[in-house]
Amino acid sequence: MRIDIISVLPALLESPFAHSILQRAQKKGLVEIHVHNLREYATNKHKSVDDYPYGGGSGMVMMIEPFARCIETLKAERKYDDIIFMTPDGEVLSQEIVNQVSIKKNIIILCGHYKGIDQRIRDFFVTREISIGDYVLSGGELPAAVFVDAIVRLIPGVLSDETSALSDSFQGELLDAPVYTRPANWNGHEVPPILLSGNQAAINEWRYEQAIERTKKRRPGLLGD
Ligand code: ADE
Repeated sequence: MRIDIISVLPALLESPFAHSILQRAQKKGLVEIHVHNLREYATNKHKSVDDYPYGGGSGMVMMIEPFARCIETLKAERKYDDIIFMTPDGEVLSQEIVNQVSIKKNIIILCGHYKGIDQRIRDFFVTREISIGDYVLSGGELPAAVFVDAIVRLIPGVLSDETSALSDSFQGELLDAPVYTRPANWNGHEVPPILLSGNQAAINEWRYEQAIERTKKRRPGLLGD
């Protein structure tokens, strides 16, 4: 998979992709992540990427030309399955959306700033708009990093234990059961004895019950009827 991200603050996206699972996935050649500096595609001599809104109002609006140039440059090199705009008024990100996007070959992600981006970018280029939740961040970079992390860990071969993505909270309808590691007794607080029993069938059953209990308590909406 190839992911191209267009941003005015590419430095914000360096660290999230340079560690741990995301770094390993790139080293293994399972995903290519390219961050493009929007300012390099500015068309005027001041290298502006934003301008005052028509009709007045507060805040600057990101201009169409730099985005158009960058997107056209990328599209001339390969076909893209989706051009995704990170925005608080998009569809709210879910594991289902992550699953859908993780099987695409090439995608572009646009990060906005300021008051928003010229509506024509959304009308003419964007195929999907995604929000990471009902709160407003100062730009689309952190949302893009969240989205890319969720996508990349689903690409086959990225996680060393392939079953672990399948048993994630949200991958089924249930939240995960609680997990424990050593010591078995911490200041008198013991690990549930069943986990030390060696009886795998009983442990699986316990985990399933715990997952149901946790889901009922915390996210009953996930259980349906
Ligand atoms: N840009 C600013 N806030 C955002 C959010 N909640 N989701 C996606 N992009 C955003």
